[in-house]
Amino acid sequence: MISKLRLFFVFITCFIAVHASSQTKVTDLVCEYMHNPIGIDIEKPRLSWKLISDKHNISQKAYEIKVAYSEKDLKANKNLLWHSGKVESSASIHVQYQGQPIPSFKKVYWTVRVWDNKGKLSSWSEPSTWETGVMDDEQWNRASWISVHDEGKITTSLPSQYYRYDFNIEKKVKQARVYITSLGTYKLFLNGSKVSDYIFGPGWTSYHKRLQYQTYDVTEMLDKDNAVGVMLGDGWYRGRMGWQNDRAYYGDRLGLLFMMHLRFSDGSEKWITSNKDWKWSYGPIIWSDHYDGECYDLNKELTGWNLADYNDGEWHKVELLDVTKDNLVANVNELPKIIKELKPIDVFTSPKGELIADLGQNIVGNIRLKVKGLPGDTIIMKYAEVLDNDGNFYTANLRSAKATDYLILNDESEVVYEPNFTFHGFRYVHLQGLRNPLSKDDLTGLAIHSPMRETGHFECSDSLLNRLQKNIEWGQRDNFLDVPTDCPQRDERLGWTGDAQVFSMTAAYNFDVATFYTKWLKDLAADQLVDGRVPVVIPDVVSKLKGSAAWADAVIIVPWTMYRVYGDIRILEEQYDSMVKWVEYMARKAGKSYLWKNDFHWGDWLAFTSTRSDYPGATTEKDLIANSYFRYSSMLLSKIASIIGKHEDSRKWAELSENVKSAFIKEFVTPNGRLVSHTQTAYLLALSFDMLPDTLKPKAANYLAQDVEKFKHLTTGFVGTPLLCNVLSDIGRDDLAFMLLIRKEYPSWLYPVTKGATTIWERWNCILPDGSFHLMGMNSFNHYAYGAIGEWMYSYIGGIKSNSEYPAYKYFTLSPHVGGGLTYAKGELITMYGKILSSWNITNGIFNYEIEIPCNTSAKVVLPNAQVADVLIDNKALENNKSLDFKAEGKNVIIELGSGKYKIQYKYNN
Ligand code: BGC
Repeated sequence: MISKLRLFFVFITCFIAVHASSQTKVTDLVCEYMHNPIGIDIEKPRLSWKLISDKHNISQKAYEIKVAYSEKDLKANKNLLWHSGKVESSASIHVQYQGQPIPSFKKVYWTVRVWDNKGKLSSWSEPSTWETGVMDDEQWNRASWISVHDEGKITTSLPSQYYRYDFNIEKKVKQARVYITSLGTYKLFLNGSKVSDYIFGPGWTSYHKRLQYQTYDVTEMLDKDNAVGVMLGDGWYRGRMGWQNDRAYYGDRLGLLFMMHLRFSDGSEKWITSNKDWKWSYGPIIWSDHYDGECYDLNKELTGWNLADYNDGEWHKVELLDVTKDNLVANVNELPKIIKELKPIDVFTSPKGELIADLGQNIVGNIRLKVKGLPGDTIIMKYAEVLDNDGNFYTANLRSAKATDYLILNDESEVVYEPNFTFHGFRYVHLQGLRNPLSKDDLTGLAIHSPMRETGHFECSDSLLNRLQKNIEWGQRDNFLDVPTDCPQRDERLGWTGDAQVFSMTAAYNFDVATFYTKWLKDLAADQLVDGRVPVVIPDVVSKLKGSAAWADAVIIVPWTMYRVYGDIRILEEQYDSMVKWVEYMARKAGKSYLWKNDFHWGDWLAFTSTRSDYPGATTEKDLIANSYFRYSSMLLSKIASIIGKHEDSRKWAELSENVKSAFIKEFVTPNGRLVSHTQTAYLLALSFDMLPDTLKPKAANYLAQDVEKFKHLTTGFVGTPLLCNVLSDIGRDDLAFMLLIRKEYPSWLYPVTKGATTIWERWNCILPDGSFHLMGMNSFNHYAYGAIGEWMYSYIGGIKSNSEYPAYKYFTLSPHVGGGLTYAKGELITMYGKILSSWNITNGIFNYEIEIPCNTSAKVVLPNAQVADVLIDNKALENNKSLDFKAEGKNVIIELGSGKYKIQYKYNN
């Protein structure tokens, strides 16, 4: 028999369990978008958290935050650095720290609890932390920039440099941190082990203006006798840069700056820093370059060079380098890492007799190769994205990038080699110099990119579209290697602003790109010219080229995207001056006419061309594009100014944008709504950027639709393509949008998929229908720009659409568009508030719709082709649901829903 007491305990336990699970909880605490960041230099970091609950309609009514130097103090409510008290607010993202200033090298703990709209108080969250880096530049004075003796003017890559320093520790270490940066790329070791998986530190920034340092926790790596070892390669700093064979763009001398901060258990501290007592040597890396590859000679191996007992008698004393430290800034986004390892799907010999491994996926990074040979053997590794029509290795599209690694063996033992200071864009590896057959096991593809949390997922019933989505994601991974690049394989790999601008929204669906773009935008502002023009690539290494409508407008559009997706107002504030400079440049150029003419522009880059004598292709006049962007950017700037409280400015920009619109209408639009460039791109710009009087909008929409119907394919380039399906859907022509999307012939998004593409191509026809290559110098198989269609797939097919009035998806729309023969689609997005799900299928004429709305948000749900009387929500008739706000609108039913999971079903009226 169960005793009464036991029964009572069972009852209490069940009660607590039920009660606890239905209670709103606070989770996923982040500081400046990061979990427990270390080494940040933001004085008032922003704190965000998520609410979870298994109930519907949960929102936050108030929050309370505590911050302290220790968990103990936090719990005891003692010595708090900040106690917000109860703040009546629904803000659960970007709440700015408002406590005492926190000096350098301090870790703080924070916790938060919330009151929800049902009057319930959550428990305190698990504590989270952030740790400051160098908050006061003076701190760097204890370290010196060190370098090797002057190597002179750099005209070719020189051997990588190895630095070392021994030190011992007598006391028990409680905490140890390294703060490090370099001129060139570093690899850091402590007592023989790599300090972190991050690579290509200190990343790529506009080095002379912003040089990032990284912070590493090395507490567990220390011993009594210790050695720091650092390798330096040319990297972006001193390697080749751009297609004009430039080298050493930032400087001829590599350098290292290092500080290690030790806190001992007895409360004392010690610093180990780079100084004149460090030693250096050349080693096995004979040369290295991002474009050309790396040459590693095992005969020159410095075995044990990074261990404490190494005899460095032959090594040289370093020289001190007189370089500024005023440009040092903390790391903003995580450095790149090996994110995925891939095994070859095939190893074969080509018709030309080349030994080739196929990874089955176009990636960016390196390989890890296991080899055995004889002393003096050279193993050569070459990289290519594609094979030619005959199945041979094809590298012509890499232009002058040699993309070749060399490994020189010194004995017969097995070696595992992974290049250090280079990366390649490739699917195929061609190996030369092997004595033994290559097995799949000997080679691993290492996909390297900036770590980004996967936030989006899109899939549907069309397998080709699913492959397209995968290609977009890979294109993003491959080109998000510390900066958003155009392509990762040829002698370019630069931060082209136009490409970044058109792709930013899609990028922010696929992955969390908040810190990635935050960093890049700081470089954009840093490299912007005094006259307001934005260099075409950021960081700027081709300074002769600047401006260009649609490219330079990244200055406004990318931060605007960050605001829409993450609700980031600080980014708008920090980038505002830079935005203003660009708009003022355009306004100056346009003068009183408000028409900006005859400047330098790329135009609708790589738009459809034809060999027809009567139709050479879709050329949209560059001035028309320029003035559309002038209007759009000034319009956005007006919104941005008002968001950050600059209302006077906001009025000024609104007036400017209206004047630009009027001038545009006079110059480029006929009274009948026809544009002087009668192209898809021209109509897309005019309709997207509100360039037309209301009366002419339907006429322009008609012209656009007629053009698509006439060609039955897109004719757009970089400028028009990202707008195409969005505009077609918005003018009620989903049929045309789907027709373009599922088209498989050239030109289309799926044409490359049918040709076996595993990433997005630069051109619609990188490979021609007969299998031959486009022979232009520009023929990249990994250019994400056309992948901007991803935004439409998520927001129209998947139906998840942001609303800039309520940024960060605080209030959003779920409005799936059905077409293209699709029978199901699923979109998922992890937002700052939590996960959004929008998953639909049509089975036996029934539309089944599963959705999820995060706590502290709400959504407008638009059910396509529905009638109120048919709709069941969570198995109950919508009609009878008095607590819900719903209405019929045209062929749709609209329901306003609060947070929670819902299942909706209705008869789909085709
Ligand atoms: C790049 C582009 C870029 C373009 C400028 C090319 O070389 O690869 O993606 O936007 O130049 O128009």
